[in-house]
Amino acid sequence: MKHNTTGPGQCWQDLQSAASRLQQKSITDLFVDNRQRASSMQLRAAGLVLDYSKNAIDRGALDLLQALFEECDVAHRLADQLDGENVNNTEDRPALHTAIRAVANDQTSPEQAMIAADQGLAADFAQSLYLGQRRGAGGEVIRDVVNLGIGGSDLGPRMATAALSHYIGGKTRVHFVSSLDDSELNDTLGALDPQSTLFLVSSKSFSTEETLFNARLAIDWFCRQRPRSEIAAHFAAITGSADAAIALGIDPEMIFMVPDWVGGRYSLWSSSGLALMIAVGADNFREFLKGGWLMDQHARNSDFHSNMPAILAALEIWHRNILDYSSLAVIPYSHELRLLPSYLQQLIMESNGKCVTRAGDPLQHSTSPLIWGTAGTEGQHSYHQLLHQGTDIIPVDFILPLGPGGPSAEAETRLASHCLAQSKALMEGVSRQAAEQEMLEQGLDDAEAGRLAPHKAMPGNRPSNTLVLEGLNPRTLGALIALYEHKTFLTSAIWDINPFDQWGVELGKKLSQAIFPVLDGSSKQQFDPSTNALMALFSAYRQKQT
Ligand code: F6P
Repeated sequence: MKHNTTGPGQCWQDLQSAASRLQQKSITDLFVDNRQRASSMQLRAAGLVLDYSKNAIDRGALDLLQALFEECDVAHRLADQLDGENVNNTEDRPALHTAIRAVANDQTSPEQAMIAADQGLAADFAQSLYLGQRRGAGGEVIRDVVNLGIGGSDLGPRMATAALSHYIGGKTRVHFVSSLDDSELNDTLGALDPQSTLFLVSSKSFSTEETLFNARLAIDWFCRQRPRSEIAAHFAAITGSADAAIALGIDPEMIFMVPDWVGGRYSLWSSSGLALMIAVGADNFREFLKGGWLMDQHARNSDFHSNMPAILAALEIWHRNILDYSSLAVIPYSHELRLLPSYLQQLIMESNGKCVTRAGDPLQHSTSPLIWGTAGTEGQHSYHQLLHQGTDIIPVDFILPLGPGGPSAEAETRLASHCLAQSKALMEGVSRQAAEQEMLEQGLDDAEAGRLAPHKAMPGNRPSNTLVLEGLNPRTLGALIALYEHKTFLTSAIWDINPFDQWGVELGKKLSQAIFPVLDGSSKQQFDPSTNALMALFSAYRQKQT
């Protein structure tokens, strides 16, 4: 470990000693030490199976991580979050995305009546579109819905709609536009008819530049072809700020509320999931909530060693703080789950990319790893070289959905073969001697085999988890997302950070407001020399074009 002796007690030092002990062995040695390792390091919950046996860790180290969790009072922190305490201490509010899942599963309390009412409104609206029963101002059936949003108001419904593409059975196509580059909006609108199109302007704050810019362009596009009075039937808002939506011209009847206590990146479960609901129907959306709720029950009620989010969180602490690995690759062997890595980037890095404690003191330890990845097998033909032979060790979460729906049986078998092969190759590697021997057997002479052997050898001993989904369906998808949410919260509790604010994104937004008028020619404000030079470059280029 390069740093990290944080927190009271012995736990961190003990974990360091455990790491030194385990460094004497390879992951494959650990399977020899414990013949039951594969079965004892496999967990099941809510339709998910986690195999974490291919990590350089053993029960002794996990017991120490359990002690760390106890020392940091993690179970109580989770209970506080689930019970609606003000866990978001910098914004003085709870983080109750989990309450939405609970309400949907009949765990209602009187205070939760509002959640149920909001859910009912959104579900009725979505279902009318799903069934093709909703008409525009001119009487045409609405056939296309365009979700205008960014971050949590885009990534969740976009990712989940792609993931559940086999459940899209409704009459309405759903499109997503997030970019400030209006090419994306123009490409989408090019194929649409305003009379049969409905826009969802999705912004919790209703102050996000990208979304308001796209909403304004969409209104202009609509009004070039239809009377302005028809906006009311073709624009809805998903927001926590109804007044701002009304000011944009949205009919109050077409506003779906996002509660204050649901963070943007946790908002897919709320009205922010409306586009998903329209794509797959209200019943499937309820199943999605059920999957999340089942994972909540598992997270709250399971003991440490059988608790999937806790084990994933413990492994993240082990990798990040004890072994100093700085990134995590998430690689779903599924075309449908191709957007999961970008969804998890926001969930994990916007939550846990923090450098001060909840009390505001500078941290002495590392927090979130860099999250990245793409669908397999595409990555195998690009960055897997670095995973296998690069100088950095990068833990991988392989995600493998099985079962009806997605790929054909042959494609599924091929995908599974590659997924299993990758984790095995990362763990076992190839020794220099074995590489040399193989080349000799292929007929290479001694000199050539010796020359190439170091290039063909693979270090191995690289850790990974494999998460198998028993079917990619609304329920397992809900459980998968809730699993990563809980893991994110549990690691934040160990790191003593608030995962529910995101002040770090504000400065850039503010500066862009100051730079825009300079680039636009309406201000002569100066900044630092580098930014001044870049602004001059932009202006010179613009002048040449005009
Ligand atoms: O800028 C970051 C952020 O605030 C995210 O947390 C959020 O998901 C995204 O912007 C979009 O915010 P809004 O839904 O308010 O438009």
